[in-house]
Amino acid sequence: MSNILAAAVGAVALENPLMNASGTFGSGKEYADFIDLRELGAVVGKSVTPRPTRGNPPPRLVETAAGMLNAIGLQNEGVDYFLRELLPELRARARVVVANVAGQSEDDYAEVTRRLSAASEKIDALEINISCPNVKCGGMAFGTDASAAAQLTARLRAETALPLWVKLSPNVTDLAAIARAVEQAGADALVVANTFLGMAIDIEKRRPILANVTGGLSGAAIHPLALRCVWQVAGAVKCPVIGCGGVTGIREVIGFLLAGATAVQVGMRHFSEPAVIRRLTGELRAWCEAHQTTVRDLVGGARNSIKN
Ligand SMILES: Cc1cc2nc3c(=O)[nH]c(=O)nc-3n(C[C@H](O)[C@H](O)[C@H](O)COP(=O)(O)O)c2cc1C
Repeated sequence: MSNILAAAVGAVALENPLMNASGTFGSGKEYADFIDLRELGAVVGKSVTPRPTRGNPPPRLVETAAGMLNAIGLQNEGVDYFLRELLPELRARARVVVANVAGQSEDDYAEVTRRLSAASEKIDALEINISCPNVKCGGMAFGTDASAAAQLTARLRAETALPLWVKLSPNVTDLAAIARAVEQAGADALVVANTFLGMAIDIEKRRPILANVTGGLSGAAIHPLALRCVWQVAGAVKCPVIGCGGVTGIREVIGFLLAGATAVQVGMRHFSEPAVIRRLTGELRAWCEAHQTTVRDLVGGARNSIKN
């Protein structure tokens, strides 16, 4: 029998549409005690910069009523370490490996993209994080300006033959315009989206809790916002869209698919439920069987209900 969960992001075939969101799954191997990484459609690495990055000073996390604010600031050990210590293990354990690229300048992104592409036999796609809200230079600055986003995408397109997924920032007025600009500049897929800019105040100390003052909001609270973003982007571009934001159950997964996403990322739910993708995979299979449908047939299904 054919696989009812089979999905694809352009040329990248997936056994199931579920993957982790960058930075919420350690480097991947920390979670291998909880879930066989082959159960994920793909494993997405944490953002990698050219050199080791310490990130922001603490406090960097705040729990909110239905989510979490983080201002980690792209802490990572740098591209050399990723290539040497993390990638071989991911390649050995995961079906599909996606490396996530970040930086503070176009040159940073180009350097990491070039270095990762030299190991292209171990990597199935690159995800470009132009949307981190927690760094002073780079990050979201690229993702909130259509021409800067397009210019960066075109530069990286010239650096790599690997599938190029660009992770957009939702902190913009006209997301569809940025999505179109990035697609035209050569992106193979769009990840929609990163965290929403927020903040929290300690009322006793009468000051912001995060040392960075602002942080990115993730978790259940953002799902309706992320779903709206996926709907808008999927209606604006022809390339595949990957939904990300606030997934805790299959209701959100199927919602993203029906809005037009071909695959779905699960982020901070991993902190409370490390094997969440195992549960969601089982529930999605059961739901598809009960409704006599497949993941591929669900993609964009809610769009047909709207005339215009
Ligand atoms: C603690 C934390 C660290 C994150 N680190 C990264 C990162 O390194 N690169 C990136 O592209 N996104 C990063 N993100 C954003 C997530 O990949 C995802 O876009 C966001 O959390 C929304 O999904 P969720 O609501 O399912 O968590 C991070 C999110 C959290 C909560």
